[in-house]
Amino acid sequence: MAKLVVENLTKRFGSVTAVDRLSFTAEDREFLVLIGPSGCGKSTTLNLIAGLEEASAGRISIGDRQVTHLHPKDRDIAMVFQNYALYPHMDVYANMAFGLSMRGYSKAEIGRRIQEAAEILGIKNLLQRKPRALSGGQRQRVAVGRAIVRKPAVFLFDEPLSNLDAKLRVQMRAELSKLHQRLNTTIVYVTHDQIEAMTMATRIVLLKDGICQQIGRPLELYTRPVNTFTAGFIGTPPMNLVPARIQAENGKMMVATDGFRLPIPARWRQAYERLKSKEVIFGIRPEHLRGTREGDIAVDAATVTRLEVDLVEMLGSHVQLTLTCGPERLIALADPALPVKAGDRIPVVFNMDSMHLFEKREPQRRIDAAPAA
Ligand SMILES: Nc1ncnc2c1ncn2[C@@H]1O[C@H](COP(=O)(O)OP(=O)(O)OP(=O)(O)O)[C@@H](O)[C@H]1O
Ligand SMILES: [Mg+2]
Repeated sequence: MAKLVVENLTKRFGSVTAVDRLSFTAEDREFLVLIGPSGCGKSTTLNLIAGLEEASAGRISIGDRQVTHLHPKDRDIAMVFQNYALYPHMDVYANMAFGLSMRGYSKAEIGRRIQEAAEILGIKNLLQRKPRALSGGQRQRVAVGRAIVRKPAVFLFDEPLSNLDAKLRVQMRAELSKLHQRLNTTIVYVTHDQIEAMTMATRIVLLKDGICQQIGRPLELYTRPVNTFTAGFIGTPPMNLVPARIQAENGKMMVATDGFRLPIPARWRQAYERLKSKEVIFGIRPEHLRGTREGDIAVDAATVTRLEVDLVEMLGSHVQLTLTCGPERLIALADPALPVKAGDRIPVVFNMDSMHLFEKREPQRRIDAAPAA
């Protein structure tokens, strides 16, 4: 069992609180992703787990063992760093053997483990090469190999793909996912790339200023973000978030902004009765806003608003439209065949069943029609 439990973990550097009462559990064999903007405390959290930094407060345990004050080498953890430095004067084999020799493993055992790791990572033919004779992706694999041969209870990865170009990153992303399935161990993986988080994670821990915002499965963060920060961070292009008022009108509840006025779906009307005349933040994802043309609207006209197009970006599979909505901008998607140019005023269909409401007051928490199921 390699369950990792972090409880109320806090790290202060002078007046900066890099990690603030952080608690989460990485279950046995879980692929847990820590994500958040630069400086939010991701690397500090990993360093605390690895024992490279001393916690100001809180506890860390692995399996049934408290490791909070143990030396890094006694924690049964292997870490792959953001800037994985391979020893330039050693070949790949020696780079992978180094940590094991330091720990007193026999030559035969080291050889067995390196062959096994090299096989898994597809680098058997590179063992005699020096790092300078490797591509970026191959170096990355060696850095991962160095961690694998240790057979730790928990792997920590700190943005291991950030030095690779976009294409290689996509490839390594898939390889790491497969590697996780094959190794069957617990992984805590840091990234600021939300696509990596969405595709690789069993669960995501989202941080901002050292404080946990939300923990959940990727789709949970996507479909039920707990505040506007999560709503804006997960998803590309991000969720549209605009200030709005809730108004009652002929027995309907309406969302009103400077650019549109649309009804809240009937099934939520009663639940949102309490919001009458309240200022809120209205959220809707670009894929739930569809640019169309006059005449081909096959939907409830009540959820259509005419908006001016500010920018048209052709992406092949679809068109991304930037629309003017009072002082705000909204991103909508459209079919690439839609004849549209900047300056046009077009009908935009709002899929109101996929709308979100948040409190106007910081931290702009989600307002639910019903308590979470
Ligand atoms: N040794 C240190 N001394 C003082 N402040 C530090 C130290 N290490 C980190 N910090 C501060 O703690 C905060 C969190 O830093 P951390 O490196 O954990 O962020 P991060 O989320 O990994 O960011 P990035 O995505 O840029 O790698 C930052 O404000 C940083 O400046
Ligand atoms: Mg970092």
